[in-house]
This record gives sequence, structure tokens and C-alpha cells, in this order.
Amino acid sequence: MSTLNPKTYSPVAAHRVAFLGLGVMGAPMAGHLARAGHQVTVYNRTAAKARAWAQEFGGAHAATPREAVQGASIVFCCVGNDEDLRSVVLGDDGALAGMAPGAVLVDHTTASADVARELYAAARGRGLHFIDAPVSGGQAGAQNGALTVMCGGDQDAFDTAAPVAAAFSRAFTRMGDSGAGQLTKMVNQICIAGLVQALSEAIAFGQKAGLDIPAVLDVIGKGAAQSWQMDNRGKTMAAGQFEFGFAVDWMRKDLGLVLDEAARNGARLPVTALVDQFYADVQQMGGRRWDTSSLIARLR
Ligand SMILES: NC(=O)c1ccc[n+]([C@@H]2O[C@H](COP(=O)([O-])OP(=O)(O)OC[C@H]3O[C@@H](n4cnc5c(N)ncnc54)[C@H](OP(=O)(O)O)[C@@H]3O)[C@@H](O)[C@H]2O)c1
Repeated sequence: MSTLNPKTYSPVAAHRVAFLGLGVMGAPMAGHLARAGHQVTVYNRTAAKARAWAQEFGGAHAATPREAVQGASIVFCCVGNDEDLRSVVLGDDGALAGMAPGAVLVDHTTASADVARELYAAARGRGLHFIDAPVSGGQAGAQNGALTVMCGGDQDAFDTAAPVAAAFSRAFTRMGDSGAGQLTKMVNQICIAGLVQALSEAIAFGQKAGLDIPAVLDVIGKGAAQSWQMDNRGKTMAAGQFEFGFAVDWMRKDLGLVLDEAARNGARLPVTALVDQFYADVQQMGGRRWDTSSLIARLR
């Protein structure tokens, strides 16, 4: 697996923790917790990944979320969507059924604000705590232990989790009550959707105009047009390389969450709704697992 890049860990008391969901993001995040000295037990639906993780990082693995969380003061989770999240948190074998009184569940899945509030209420009903904590920074951020994490929930529970989560984050910030983390992540995704379409149009235009695109990006990347997407994706977009990064399927899931929330709160998102449909085109072109920068592919 060997997914981690070196990181210096601040000294913090060792905690017994659990991590549920060892995907592209979860596996390296859990790895940083183990490297920081915490006692980590992992659960993954596909058990072979949990066994491989435990072999690499020296932690324990369990057959169900309920078993994995036994005795943990903090339980971290990172699965795909709302339904996946309910399936590892609720029910007889779910995390809430096994957590010790007062323990905190920190969920890093990008999910709806509604499911965050639902699970917050379910946790509080059992004397437990729930923090919604979606992340930004992608696979590289997880591997480097440098994620930006936006949280919603109670201050005390946040304060318990923050020093431990520092193992895989460069910023871990409470944005407000339950759901505020997911709403902040939606703002993040709205920013990215419009920006990637603009960058796609700019590069496609520059190519039609016969410009040397890497040179153009180097120059305008030092001015007002600079962005993370330009710095990290501009050259691969120009070269038509998309087999890496943050999958279009995940972006469509996120934009679906955004558009549902906007339908409720009355926000007008004309560009975001359009870009969502452009991503549907990319899916039709066979790009479901391509990076989100593949919007440019439909302009060729
Ligand atoms: N990848 C990124 O760059 C990135 C960046 C920011 C945010 N995110 C968000 O982070 C979350 C995870 O992304 P990822 O890239 O790590 O996804 P991933 O590689 O597809 O991993 C998903 C994980 O969830 C587990 N899972 C899915 N459905 C489940 C279910 N019903 N019951 C139990 N476990 C289930 C999977 O288990 P199996 O191994 O058994 O399939 C796997 O461990 C998503 O919400 C995504 O939007 C991702």
C-alpha cells in the first residue's frame, strides 16, 4: 500500500481510535493516525483492504464497524455517500451500536447536511457525539497529511477530535453547528465547478489560437487568473491527461448535493447547474473515473 509521504507529527497523547472506510482517502488518513502513535483499529467493507492496511501500519482490523469502535474515544469515517454512511453508522453492526459513552464520531465523507443532522441526532440520543467533517485537498492531501477539514457540530466534541485529526490535516476548523461542515464543502465545490469550466474554455481557446499553452499558463499563473486548478491541472488539461485525481462520478454526487440544498434554500446556481450537465456529458464519453479537469475533453 505504502501511500504516505513523510510528515512531522506534533506531540499529542496517544488515543485509541477507529477508522471506517479505507478508500483512496481513508487508507492514508488512517495511516497518518497510526504513524502519529495512536492505537488504530480499522474496518473496511472489503476485508482484504483492512488486512493489508493492518499489515502495513501495525494496527488492528475488525469484521464490523461495531467491533472496530470498541473502546475508541474517537471514531473516524470516510465512505462514499449518504447511504454508505448510514450503513456503517446505524443498525445492529453499525458504529453507534458499539461506541463507548461520550465517544466522538468524526465523518469525513462528502455527504448531505441532512444526513449529518440525522446522525448527529442519533448520536446525541445515545450519549455520543457526531461531527460532520468533509475534506478538501484530494488524494495528495490525504497522502501528505495536509487536508483542509471543515467541521460542523458541538464545540466540545470538536475540541476532542482536533488535536488527533491534526495527524492528517493542515487545517481543521469548526464552521458552526451540525451540517455546517457539509455546507462549507458545498461552497467549495460550487467554486471549483465554475472555475474548471472557465479554465477549460481558456485552454481550448488558447490551443485554437495556436499559443504555447504551458508558457501561457506560466505567465498568467503569476497574475490575477492564478488558481489551484491552473497550477495543478492546467498542463495536464492541455495534454489531455485525466486518468488520476478526483473522479467525475464523485463530482456529480457532490453537485447533486449542492443543487438539492439550493432547491431548499433558494440560492440561484445557473452556472453550477450547467456544469453539472457538462459533467454528465463527460460520463457519457466514458469519463466516469476521469479527474474533474476532464471538462475540457468535451470542447475538443
Ligand atoms: N478522492 C478524492 O480526491 C476526494 C477528495 C475530497 C473528498 N472526497 C470524498 O471522500 C469520500 C471517499 O472518497 P474516496 O476517494 O476515498 O472513495 P473510494 O476510494 O471509492 O472509497 C470509498 C470507501 O467507502 C467504502 N464504502 C463504500 N460504500 C460502502 C458501504 N455501503 N458500506 C461500507 N463501506 C462502504 C469503500 O469500501 P470498499 O473498499 O469495500 O469498496 C471504501 O473504503 C467521498 O465522499 C468523496 O466524495 C474524495
